[in-house]
Amino acid sequence: MQMKRILISMLVLLTTGWANAATSGEDGSRLWLRLDNVQTTAAITGVKGTAMTELQTYWQGGPVVLKRQKGIAKDGYTIMSQDGKTVIAASNDAGLLYGAYHLLRLQQAGEPCDGLDIREEPFYDLRILNHWDNPNGTVERGFAGHSIFVNPTPERMKMYARANASVGINGTVLNNVNAKPEALSTASLEKAKAIADQLRPYNIRVYLSINFASPIKVGGLETADPLNAEVVKWWKDKVNEIYKLIPDFGGFLVKANSEGEPGPQDFGRTHADGANMLAGVLKPHKGIVMWRAFVYAPQSPDRANQAYLEFMPLDGQFADNVIIQIKNGPIDFQPREAYSPLFTAMQKTQMMVEFQITQEYLGAANHLVYLAPMWQEFFSFVKPASLKAMAGVANIGDDTNWCGHHFAQANWYAFGRLAWNPALTSEQIADEWLTQTFCEQGNHKCQTSDFKPQMLSVMLESREACVNYMMPLGIHHIFAGTHHYGPEPWYAPKGVRADWTPPYYHKADSIGLGFDRTLAGSANVKQYPDELCQLYNDINTCPENLLAWFHHVPWDHKMKSGRTFWDELCHKYDDGVQETRRFLRIWDAMQPYVDSQRFEEVQHKLRIQTRDSEWWRDACLLYFQTFSKRPIPSDMEHPVHNLDEMMKFRIPITMYENPESGYTK
Ligand code: GCU
Repeated sequence: MQMKRILISMLVLLTTGWANAATSGEDGSRLWLRLDNVQTTAAITGVKGTAMTELQTYWQGGPVVLKRQKGIAKDGYTIMSQDGKTVIAASNDAGLLYGAYHLLRLQQAGEPCDGLDIREEPFYDLRILNHWDNPNGTVERGFAGHSIFVNPTPERMKMYARANASVGINGTVLNNVNAKPEALSTASLEKAKAIADQLRPYNIRVYLSINFASPIKVGGLETADPLNAEVVKWWKDKVNEIYKLIPDFGGFLVKANSEGEPGPQDFGRTHADGANMLAGVLKPHKGIVMWRAFVYAPQSPDRANQAYLEFMPLDGQFADNVIIQIKNGPIDFQPREAYSPLFTAMQKTQMMVEFQITQEYLGAANHLVYLAPMWQEFFSFVKPASLKAMAGVANIGDDTNWCGHHFAQANWYAFGRLAWNPALTSEQIADEWLTQTFCEQGNHKCQTSDFKPQMLSVMLESREACVNYMMPLGIHHIFAGTHHYGPEPWYAPKGVRADWTPPYYHKADSIGLGFDRTLAGSANVKQYPDELCQLYNDINTCPENLLAWFHHVPWDHKMKSGRTFWDELCHKYDDGVQETRRFLRIWDAMQPYVDSQRFEEVQHKLRIQTRDSEWWRDACLLYFQTFSKRPIPSDMEHPVHNLDEMMKFRIPITMYENPESGYTK
């Protein structure tokens, strides 16, 4: 088998000029789609469309027949080897396209492309990227350059479309949830139309985030009250204008009454009033509303409680083309959170999960953190079937390699694959991605070496390592004030809202550390099903990885390891540091298998990550030690930095940039 693979690889190398591609194009711009344009000589026959073009351009095997066939779920497909031909069948064009990409994926991975008997259908109908792109080209929490939508070249848009379609992503929200009213100006809509036209052949629909006060700010009305007839008419006219330009427009994403954005509550109305009004005007066009549940209030004693408090009373009141879009956790995309309890509480409302692909709280585009294990952890609590759709906040920008870090591409890839099939394992997805991205076809050195097992172990362990060096054992939100890159557990300037400062979350004092969300505390545990409520409420049964999420844990609390909580905390932080060093060592040994550009770029980032992990460990432990008054255990590496210096250190970046480096003292 191995021999056969090597022979095939050599043949491909000779016939396709792979060697050429290896020396050009190793800047990551081809993502995981690294097949060369071969303009196939094999007969590709059947239904015309993008699937046909993709195969004609990239397929290197025998004849392929594309055919329409009833009885296959929408967007699903079958691939069968029949009489010397490969037959891709689907009930719609999208299914044929996804089938074509499946076949190309097999080819690129060097898998056998004969004897095929494949049947696939997507788990979710809606698999949507959310771009937080602003009209001026900045990207909120974007770490890979500027917006790809501001001055898109047709080549770049095509690559974006192909990458998405190759993993089944079929929708994209073009602009930031903190939407500028001008997103609905005629000029912006025309730009959206141009993008929609380029994405349509790849089965990708376009959606827009809207500002709820648009009737005032764009329409010149005096109110945006969703029950006001003039306001409804304004939205109706606007929606008609949009559908004239973009007949298959998907709908609106709405952030309302959240972090200062306007919403129906400004007019004494509820989230349901606002969402249903928009749903009503979109309905005749088959559009939908994705209404976000990311709400919290400055006066709230526990931010984690707020979404449940605002949305549970509305359960069952939303129109059937409204989906409530809920972040996976109740706070904000932390390296580890308990799942958002709304997911198991709401019974009569359509829900979708919002994951964050961009690493706002996980080391931006400097840290290698593979996110599929985190998303899979979420699905171990929330049944995929209880959700209607999946959204991911994109990590895409105009950087040559799209995502800032070569390994961040894996998170875009994994998001698409999981939205297609949430039962795929993180390992399967990482394996597929690694093979296509680094070990494509002719690169047999990579296929046969220990590159894949080693890098799989790095990817699969990277999320837990990040939790460990940033905030183990349930600690959360102890990031630098505005850009969320490094540690600032002490950050609490006068005048800043308490819930925007780390002490609100870690509550360190002489007794211990962590947020008491038990029945005796904020009672957040009560928002979970009974069984979990009991489990989380008791410090002795609460999973240790969420201990300081649900409890104010005494420094001397006995952990399962036999250590005190303080000692365990110290060890976890240090484990994280040791892990990042191991990642760097492994990568350094991978040099023979990787082209020099990507090797050096990843190495540079891993060095930053290693230094950052020390910075996190030292800053957090030395700061928490001022409360615990306990020694750092002698059987671990001790901090190498000075707390005062770390407290003075600043990284001068905004929320639109990736830091060039972390702690540089
Ligand atoms: C986080 C993030 C903001 C973003 C917000 C949201 O708070 O820091 O930049 O706007 O989430 O999801 O709406």
